[in-house]
Amino acid sequence: MTNRKRPEELRSHRWLGVSDLRSFGHRSRLRQVGYDTADWAGKPVIGIINTWSDINPCHVHLRQRADEVKRGVLQAGGFPIELPAMSLAEVMVKPTTMLYRNFLAMETEELLRSHPIDGAVLLGGCDKTSPALVMGAASMGLPTIYVPAGPMLRGNWHGKQLGSGSDVWKYWDEKRAGNITEADWDEIENGIARSFGTCMTMGTAATMMAIVEAMGLALPGASSIPAADSNHPRMAVACGRRIVDMVWEDLTTDQILTRPAMENAIKVHMAMGGSTNAIIHVIAMAKRAGVDVTLADFDKISREVPVIANVRPSGKYLMEDFFYAGGLRALMAELRDLLDLTCMTVTGQTLGENIKGAKVHLPDVIHPVSDPISSEPATGVLIGNLAPRGAVIKPSAVEKRLLKHRGPALVFEDYNHMAREIDREDLDVTADHVLVLKNSGPKGGPGMPEWGMMPIPTKLVKQGVRDMLRISDARMSGTSYGACILHVSPESYVGGPLAFVQTGDAIEVDVAARTINLVVSDEEMARRKAAWTPPPPRYQRGYGAMFSEHIGQADEGCDFDFLARHVPVAEPEIH
Ligand code: FES
Repeated sequence: MTNRKRPEELRSHRWLGVSDLRSFGHRSRLRQVGYDTADWAGKPVIGIINTWSDINPCHVHLRQRADEVKRGVLQAGGFPIELPAMSLAEVMVKPTTMLYRNFLAMETEELLRSHPIDGAVLLGGCDKTSPALVMGAASMGLPTIYVPAGPMLRGNWHGKQLGSGSDVWKYWDEKRAGNITEADWDEIENGIARSFGTCMTMGTAATMMAIVEAMGLALPGASSIPAADSNHPRMAVACGRRIVDMVWEDLTTDQILTRPAMENAIKVHMAMGGSTNAIIHVIAMAKRAGVDVTLADFDKISREVPVIANVRPSGKYLMEDFFYAGGLRALMAELRDLLDLTCMTVTGQTLGENIKGAKVHLPDVIHPVSDPISSEPATGVLIGNLAPRGAVIKPSAVEKRLLKHRGPALVFEDYNHMAREIDREDLDVTADHVLVLKNSGPKGGPGMPEWGMMPIPTKLVKQGVRDMLRISDARMSGTSYGACILHVSPESYVGGPLAFVQTGDAIEVDVAARTINLVVSDEEMARRKAAWTPPPPRYQRGYGAMFSEHIGQADEGCDFDFLARHVPVAEPEIH
């Protein structure tokens, strides 16, 4: 290739290739580790950003995968350097990992900028890690490849397949209704997470891994490989080899993360029946790449691309089945006529070339576009006087009777209020009520926790009710399901109209018309607004205070205002 970079054009050359006082320090300290000139001279330095941690079960294999990436880098003549980063274990980090997504994004960007790195390998997969890594890498703009952590194996209980999250909610309701025993519940706890890897339903992790691959940042098919499959380490080694060539080819993120690539990613999201969380993350990643993606793009594409992946919570199977069915390459081959196949990817080839020859092997797992698994789309964007800047719903995972609904509001001022009330046998609630949860958005949560799938009141669970209309400014887990309207913008904590809803107010939702309205007069809303006092920021110091001050609303992608600016940052001076 004629435009291959020369060694002295490598970014790391400024640290390692020159002859001055500082470079003496850099090299002598590499020698301290046991490296020699042969390790680095004239070689691309590859930074492996690793979100491994003992407390992140989804990433517990990434220590091993980093070694496999290193093997690939060495095979191709590069110099691998592993850089640990915040792990963001979804189920462990409180109050919510979303509070720290931008922290990891910032850490990724600055790790790459401040070190002598020529190309980046991103190791992640648990919900917020994929968008955070991509946001940081896109802002830095080096050649970058993503190694998805991969889904864990299928869960098992009494011969039934268990899905992460989805079956937790399902069997929790059965337990509350008295249909399963304490011993059953204990066995489910032992059977639902059987190997390392991410949640294996179409939760946020599986959605985001697929989306990042669809954007062109992963090797073809990488996102579908189960973490415990031997294809997974081979994929990691291949990523190590490929990133070295990407550096020589100067194949940077801006050549991959284009507007058509983002549209491809949204189309894949819809076809997968992906997590609603992806909406926030795609908007944020696109902004970092200088591409303007809005809720309107999601709404438009949701009307064009049906759900064809038959995976829970919208469908019936799990990610392991999706892999056996042909994985993301096969799904994208089914979508071929809807995608922009000319987009460049990390392979140095176009998306069209990457999916050439891909076929669906299990047609009930990946349906043809002509026979979708649901007549409803994966995402609906609702607008109205209750959500002037938008709210979202996952119509494919909703009981049909609730897609058009009018009912009285039952309002909870915050999560603790809801938790205190929801099990009361004398709660004044019917299946027609609309549960409303306030103060759960980006500033109010804080961090916009996954509280949007409010539990059905125990009294109603016992009567057999399994779905109700629920509205909040929170998010919900991608493994959740039901008539949950989420991401109401602006949020109640900053005085969005949700703040002024009162128990008994009528709420009207029409998903087909994409509307959400509070049936209260403008005059009454103005009166309530005038009587409202803004609450103080949730944090007075530390990272939380910075978060409170700079976080954007859900419709903007929840990035920090100072990170979302698409302006160049100077390379560090070396003195
Ligand atoms: Fe890590 Fe679900 S908890 S992906």
